[in-house]
Amino acid sequence: MKALVVYSSQTGNTKKLAEAVYETLTCEKEIFPVADAPDPAGYDLVALGFWFQAGKPDPKSAEYMARVKDNKVFLFATHGAAVGSDHVKNALEHARGLMPRAEVLGSFTCQGEVNPKVLEKVKAKPTPPPWIADADNAVGHPDQNDLDGLKQAFKDAAPAFTG
Ligand SMILES: Cc1cc2nc3c(=O)[nH]c(=O)nc-3n(C[C@H](O)[C@H](O)[C@H](O)COP(=O)(O)O)c2cc1C
Repeated sequence: MKALVVYSSQTGNTKKLAEAVYETLTCEKEIFPVADAPDPAGYDLVALGFWFQAGKPDPKSAEYMARVKDNKVFLFATHGAAVGSDHVKNALEHARGLMPRAEVLGSFTCQGEVNPKVLEKVKAKPTPPPWIADADNAVGHPDQNDLDGLKQAFKDAAPAFTG
């Protein structure tokens, strides 16, 4: 059994999650940033990590998701929005919609500290997006608690690859 971890990460938050997922895998495994990632065909599991941009998976991840066909998939992501908010649910739904043939075994998301310059710029917009109200709470995330939660969620979703 062979697993592939693919991630997109501009400021390192999602990369931390990707490394925790990779550590948790007990089968044959590979990890790549999305720009260097191989075709997902031929892997028994693809763990796909993205960050939220404008309420959706970041564009590079979205492009990769379109290449995912009949794979088993585990999704993980970081975002400025509050965990469990509609914003997060909608973005996850969007991601699933980009991979209609995939078997999504599970998912995990947590907040990821937002680049302060970006935060300032978005807050200054005439109509800031609703997720920005939660972004101050993202400082310091992902933290150890987030990474532990991710590892547990991944083990629960994909026991055959993590046992
Ligand atoms: C240009 C830009 C747009 C963003 N849009 C959203 C968004 O729509 N919703 C959200 O919850 N977070 C948004 N964020 C916050 C990031 O998703 C979050 O900080 C994430 O952890 C960044 O991951 P990374 O460190 O792996 O790049 C945005 C950040 C940037 C830079």
